[in-house]
Amino acid sequence: MIRFEHVTKRYADGTTAVDDLSFEVAEGELVTLVGPSGCGKTTTMKMVNRLVEPTSGRILLGGEDIAAADPVQLRRRIGYVIQQVGLFPHKTVLENTATVPQLVGTPKAAARARAAELLELVGLDPSVYGGRYPAQLSGGQRQRVGVARALAADPPVLLMDEPFGAVDPVVRERLQNEFLALQKTVRKTILLVTHDLEEAVRLGDRIAVYGRAGTIEQFDRPAAVLGAPANGYVASFVGADRGLKRLAVTPVRAADLEPADGTAPEAAVPLGSSLREALAALLQQDAGRIGVADPESGRLAGVLTPQGVHRALRRAEAAEAAQDGGS
Ligand SMILES: Nc1ncnc2c1ncn2[C@@H]1O[C@H](COP(=O)(O)OP(=O)(O)OP(=O)(O)O)[C@@H](O)[C@H]1O
Ligand SMILES: [Mg+2]
Repeated sequence: MIRFEHVTKRYADGTTAVDDLSFEVAEGELVTLVGPSGCGKTTTMKMVNRLVEPTSGRILLGGEDIAAADPVQLRRRIGYVIQQVGLFPHKTVLENTATVPQLVGTPKAAARARAAELLELVGLDPSVYGGRYPAQLSGGQRQRVGVARALAADPPVLLMDEPFGAVDPVVRERLQNEFLALQKTVRKTILLVTHDLEEAVRLGDRIAVYGRAGTIEQFDRPAAVLGAPANGYVASFVGADRGLKRLAVTPVRAADLEPADGTAPEAAVPLGSSLREALAALLQQDAGRIGVADPESGRLAGVLTPQGVHRALRRAEAAEAAQDGGS
């Protein structure tokens, strides 16, 4: 869907922001771009909607060279959540969300109805938040409005630059979960920038790990990046706490649970939660075990203990090893 072919960007002052990038994002795929500050992530995004023009190489969107596309037409197909959210301060939340549909000629009433739907979708009740101004929202709420606004024109492609950067880790994890659930239904083709490796790993179908100088050092599935770093740079970027990061990408399965006995606790997390969430819940319980619910029925599916977490991590490692051996 989005294809970079040997793309290099050198700014007028000689800074090479992006150096010979080649990669492809499949339709409906979410690729995260992760790397240190100044490594060229925002520049990469801006070249897709032609806010920045490559110095050499080309970018194809749906098989067509975007250099030949009309930038205005192009941007209508691409939602863009910019790094600082960028809501209009003098417009209400509803007006902000309805901006793009109205720009492309959707009648006002229809644009507002659509905006209300999208606010609902990102977890903001339009009757509560629709009439507020951005200054009257928390940072996380503003970011949700940014996401709703980017979805408003129903673009097939989304560029999201640190969309959850402004919120604390707990809210961030909730927003990430909501966003993943949303992506399951809307199936956009997404490039998402973050400098948080854990976020990259949780959200990405694949991850592009940038080096310092605008190059991609590894482009692969999260498990492969964690399990088999391509070189020393990626290995040090991924760090020694790989096991901890793996917690965030490994879901709790029924096989990890002990049967719930007569004195079973209340369910603390549903099956499919990350081990990280489950471990956080576990650490708050003196009992050293938590109940895990079947998300369909809401009933207790079993009990998770520290041994269960350990088993699940070993299972995830073994699955990664098998996958890397087989590919
Ligand atoms: N208009 C510009 N003119 C000259 N250099 C620029 C320009 N915009 C960006 N750069 C430089 O290009 C490099 C990449 O910038 P970019 O904004 O793409 O980084 P980034 O990976 O998004 O960083 P961050 O994580 O801090 O947002 C940096 O060295 C930056 O200073
Ligand atoms: Mg940036």
